[in-house]
Amino acid sequence: MKIAEKIQEVREQVKEWHKEGFTVGLVPTMGYLHEGHKSLIERACKENDRVVVSVFVNPIQFGPTEDLESYPRDLEKDSALCESVGANLIFHPTPEEMYPNGFCSFVDMDVLTKELCGLSRPTHFRGVCTVVSKLFNIVKPDRAYFGEKDAQQLAVIKRMVLDLNMDIKIIGCPIVRESDGLAKSSRNTYLNPEERKAALILSKSIKAGKILFEQGETDAKKLTDAMKDIISSEPLARIDYVKTVDLLTMQQIDKLDRPFLTAIAVYIGKTRLIDNFIVQSGGNF
Ligand code: PAF
Repeated sequence: MKIAEKIQEVREQVKEWHKEGFTVGLVPTMGYLHEGHKSLIERACKENDRVVVSVFVNPIQFGPTEDLESYPRDLEKDSALCESVGANLIFHPTPEEMYPNGFCSFVDMDVLTKELCGLSRPTHFRGVCTVVSKLFNIVKPDRAYFGEKDAQQLAVIKRMVLDLNMDIKIIGCPIVRESDGLAKSSRNTYLNPEERKAALILSKSIKAGKILFEQGETDAKKLTDAMKDIISSEPLARIDYVKTVDLLTMQQIDKLDRPFLTAIAVYIGKTRLIDNFIVQSGGNF
C-alpha cells in the first residue's frame, strides 16, 4: 500500500486505475483511525476495486478556539490499519499542499449548516464542504463513505453532491460503539477515566430517546426533554444541544411524523462529544 503526499501522485495513480476499468472508493478521514473508520474502509473495499483513504487534519474546519493543534495523529498506526483491511492508497497531504499561498475559494452551504453543530461551530461546514470537494476533485471516486455518527455532515455532503451535480455515490455507514455503548471517536482519547465513565450518559440518553419513540411518543419536545433530563443527571456533562430535526433539511420539527434525526452534542469536561439516532420509518409514517 502506497502513501502519497502529493496531489499529482494521487491523480496519476487513479488515472491508471480508471484506464484499467477499476472502480474507486474514497474514505475521507482526519486519521487516528478506529473501528468506526475501519468499518468504512472495509465496506469501501467490498464495493470497489481500489480504495483511497485520505488522512488529513483539515485546519479550515476547526474554529479558532478548537482542538486543531491537539487533535491526535498517528500515521504509522493508521497505515497498518488501512493495509490490514485492504486499502490501496493513503493520501496524506500537508496543509500547504491542500491550501497553498493565495488559496481563497470555498464551498459553502445554507440552511442545513445553520442548525445543530453549525450553531456552535459556524465555520465548520464550510471547511468540511471545501475539503471534501477538493478530495472529490483529486481522487475522482465512484463512491465515498462517511459515518452516520456525523449525521449532519453526511446530510450536508449528500446535499452538496446533489446541488453541485457531483457524480459520486455517497454512502453512510452505521455508528460503531464501544462494548459499553460509547460511540467510537478519535476525541474519546481526550477523556480521563472519570470522564470516560461520565461519557456513557450520551449513549444512555440516545437509547432512552429511541425507546420512547418506539413506545409511541410523537412529540419531539417531550422526547428531547426526557433525554436532556438524563444528560443533566451527570455532573460532568454540559449540554451543547439535544434536538430533533427533519432528516433531509436538518430543520427542527415538533411532531415525529417523518424521517428524523435526534442528535446531541455534550461537553464532558472540555471534550465535546456527539451521538445520535436516525429513524427512517415507523411510528406515524
Ligand atoms: O469526518 C471527518 O473526519 C472530517 O470531517 C472529514 C469528512 C474527513 C473532512 O475533513
